[in-house]
Amino acid sequence: MASKIILGRGIALITGAASGIGRETAFAFAEAGVTGIAFADINEQGAQAAAEESKTYATNGEYRCIAVHVNISDEDSVQKMVDSTVKEFGRIDYCVNSAGIGNTSGAVMPNLKLDFFSKIMDINVKGTMLCDRAVARAMAQQEPLTYTSRRHGTRSLGRGSIVNLGSTNSYVAVPGMMGYTTSKHAVIGVTKSAALDCAQFHIRVNALCPAWVDTPMMQASLARVPTLGQLIKTASPLRRAAIPEEVADCIVFLCSPSASYINGAGLLVDAGLSLTAHVP
Ligand SMILES: NC(=O)c1ccc[n+]([C@@H]2O[C@H](COP(=O)([O-])OP(=O)(O)OC[C@H]3O[C@@H](n4cnc5c(N)ncnc54)[C@H](O)[C@@H]3O)[C@@H](O)[C@H]2O)c1
Repeated sequence: MASKIILGRGIALITGAASGIGRETAFAFAEAGVTGIAFADINEQGAQAAAEESKTYATNGEYRCIAVHVNISDEDSVQKMVDSTVKEFGRIDYCVNSAGIGNTSGAVMPNLKLDFFSKIMDINVKGTMLCDRAVARAMAQQEPLTYTSRRHGTRSLGRGSIVNLGSTNSYVAVPGMMGYTTSKHAVIGVTKSAALDCAQFHIRVNALCPAWVDTPMMQASLARVPTLGQLIKTASPLRRAAIPEEVADCIVFLCSPSASYINGAGLLVDAGLSLTAHVP
């Protein structure tokens, strides 16, 4: 089957690639024709399995992939991930930061444990910043890619595109979700700042902000909060969670030539959930 969005070349580094949105995004990149993907995750076995499966979807005859262990909250580990990707493939054109943790606490603010708040900020915020920083340093060293349009000739695509995973919780708050909501608001701060700071190197940085996506993270939330399944059906204007492919395709779009003028955006992919306070 032909890919919906064609990249045709390039190297992708994807964190959180062992599961959920990261895994699906890597498959979408393979289908879009990239030449190489580094599957990075704290779960190295899962990353290895996803890398193996990606070969089924790859459309570029030169496609290669590797699995890399990373703990995104550890500066040295993040640097090693970037170094081994550059060593293997020579460059990084697309970076997707999908590694993260969900709101496993559920405590309302007066009862919120500092340990949990610190942990989620460490992984979701510091982890995203560390990955953006290390990847941007590598991207800044490389030659820009170009794109030739039949109507308007050749334009530079810049030295790379980075996509961070925000959430609808990057824009709205939900009771009992202070840790997660704060971390996802901060991901927008990281994204906007990185977008401005990296513009001089012609590196674009955006955030993709989905509502519920049916992944192992959402399944864990459904197991913790029995009323969540009905809430999703009631609150989502489309009466369902997104499937991972619907999010992955938007991430590929943000990395594609079609998005070459999008920088510093937080793209909501929530079926209109955050448009209204009205719940039917
Ligand atoms: N699923 C949803 O409903 C939803 C909605 C909005 C935003 N998001 C965001 O999308 C991203 C991906 O979520 P998902 O649903 O695919 O989750 P998931 O749990 O299926 O996958 C997350 C992956 O991140 C990895 N990971 C966790 N901590 C790590 C660390 N310290 N270092 C390296 N890897 C680590 C995990 O091993 C796992 O493979 C997260 O940032 C999440 O907050 C998810």
